[in-house]
Amino acid sequence: MTKTIITVATMKGGSGKSTLASCLAVHWHLKARQPIIIDADPQRSIARLSARERKLGGVRVIEDAGGESWKTAYQVAEQSGLVIIDTPGFRSEATLACIAASDFVLVPVKPSPFDIDRMLDTLNLLINGAKGGRRPEFRCLLTQTTREAVIAKHIRAELAEAGFPVLKSEMANRVIYAEAALWGATPTLIEPRGPAARDIAAIADEIESVLEGALETKRVASA
Ligand SMILES: Nc1ncnc2c1ncn2[C@@H]1O[C@H](COP(=O)(O)OP(=O)(O)OP(=O)(O)O)[C@@H](O)[C@H]1O
Ligand SMILES: [Mg+2]
Repeated sequence: MTKTIITVATMKGGSGKSTLASCLAVHWHLKARQPIIIDADPQRSIARLSARERKLGGVRVIEDAGGESWKTAYQVAEQSGLVIIDTPGFRSEATLACIAASDFVLVPVKPSPFDIDRMLDTLNLLINGAKGGRRPEFRCLLTQTTREAVIAKHIRAELAEAGFPVLKSEMANRVIYAEAALWGATPTLIEPRGPAARDIAAIADEIESVLEGALETKRVASA
């Protein structure tokens, strides 16, 4: 992967942003990619996670919840190549700026039957409201799904119909995420061959192929 900034964002609290950002970072870290996380959430979820015993396996975390965290991301990407930004669960100019500065935006969506319309509205704000009018490469990801859940299938279809592409992989609902977090770890560190680690690997692979596809499109366009 070349110099890449990935932002994890939604405007809905508790949809799994911080969990996802930390799990992806650990996965890529173990693949010798040296990712750096920018914790742009004033709640400091990832900073606190990395202060616990397992220290996210040594992934470097930089705290910057200021309005210019996107600039920090740019600078850090120059050094490490791969930056993952965890954003707060509310709408902020700082998040929109991070989105505009990103190569890829990952939007975790926790399937819920109650607020599909609101979810589509906020996705519109997030993706189409990025600064500079640039629509970033983005994918939604269904999180905390349970097997054969009708609601997840329904939401997948609604998202696709509204023009929001969804990754094939899902981040299933598994208790190991919270358990691992108690130690400042992720499933990839404590159970590398387990189902949660495999979910994360599948999500990471899909993101990599979207990024490679986007690079190829750029290459063809500039040739
Ligand atoms: N796939 C999953 N299966 C089970 N629990 C999960 C999963 N993903 C996240 N969780 C749990 O859900 C809770 C919220 O997750 P997390 O803190 O990552 O969400 P968030 O979007 O970052 O929230 P906030 O908006 O407050 O920053 C945590 O307790 C986490 O352990
Ligand atoms: Mg969070």
